Amino acid sequence: MKETNGNLLSSQLLAQLTEARHVLVLTGAGMSAESGIPTFRDAQSGIWGKFRPEDLATPEAFEANPSRVWEWYQERRSKVLTVRPHAGHRALAAIASLVPELTIVTQNVDGLHQLAGSDNVAELHGNIMRSKCSISHRPISAEWLSDSSHSPPRSPYVSKGLARPDVVWFGEVLPQNVLQAAMDSALRCDFCISVGTTSLVQPAASLPLMALEHGASLLEINPRETPLSPHAGQCLRGTAAEVLPALLAQLRASKKDLDQRPRL
Ligand code: APR
Repeated sequence: MKETNGNLLSSQLLAQLTEARHVLVLTGAGMSAESGIPTFRDAQSGIWGKFRPEDLATPEAFEANPSRVWEWYQERRSKVLTVRPHAGHRALAAIASLVPELTIVTQNVDGLHQLAGSDNVAELHGNIMRSKCSISHRPISAEWLSDSSHSPPRSPYVSKGLARPDVVWFGEVLPQNVLQAAMDSALRCDFCISVGTTSLVQPAASLPLMALEHGASLLEINPRETPLSPHAGQCLRGTAAEVLPALLAQLRASKKDLDQRPRL
C-alpha cells in the first residue's frame, strides 16, 4: 500500500479511475466534518467522547427516556439545518458526471451529499431529518411534529408509539433494501473510495473489502490510518475538502488526455 501525504493519486490508480465503469464511494463522519458536523470518534471533538452511545443511540435509551433522546436529536437536527456541503461534497457530485456510474453509500444522516447535487446516494444509517413511529417504523411527516422540541409527539399509527428519528441506532438492523443496494454496488464496482470513516462500524466497514475481493481498486481518503489502510492501493492523508477537489481535477485532466489520444 502506498501512503501519500498530499492529494495526488498515483498514475496507476488514476488510470484505473479514469477507466472505471462503476465507482463506489463509502463516506463516514469525516466527510461532513469540514461542514461543521462533529465526527463520532475523533479524540478532541468526537460526539462519543462527550456522550455515551448507550444513553442516546439505542432503542433501550429511547424507551427509558424518550424526551432526553428526542431533545438531543432535535439539537443535532438544528445543527444540520445550519450547515452547507463543502468543496469535497461538490467534487463527488462532479466526479459522478465524469464516470459511467457512481454510487455513494454513506453512513452520514445529514443529507449533505444530496444537497451538493449527488443523486445516487444510499443512506445506510437513515436520515436525521426524517422521523418514524417507534413501534411500526412507518414514516411520520414533518407537519405532525410541529412544536415538538422537548418531547417526542405521539405516533399517528400506534397508540403506544412515539415519533423517533429515522436513524439506525446501535443494536438495530439496517434498512435491508438500502444495505442490499450497497452490497450489490460493492460487488459490481471496479473502483472503490473510502472517505472519512474509521472503518470500525459494521456492516459499512466490510463494503470496501467486498469490493476489493471482487477485483476493484481501493483508495482511502482520511487524515489518519484506519484498519482499512493496509488493504488500500493508496491512502491519501488529507481531508475530504482538500483531497476530493484535487482528485476531481486529476480525473478531469486524465479524461481529457484520454479523449485527445489518437485512435486507430
Ligand atoms: N476529512 C476526512 N476524514 C476525516 C476528516 C476530514 N476532514 N476529519 C476526520 N476524519 C476521519 C477520522 O480520521 C476518522 O477516521 O473520519 C473518521 C471519523 O470516524 P467516526 O467518527 O468513527 O465516524 P464513522 O466511521 O463514520 O462512524 C461510523 O458510527 O456512531 C456510529 O452511526 C455512527 O455512522 C456512524 C458510525
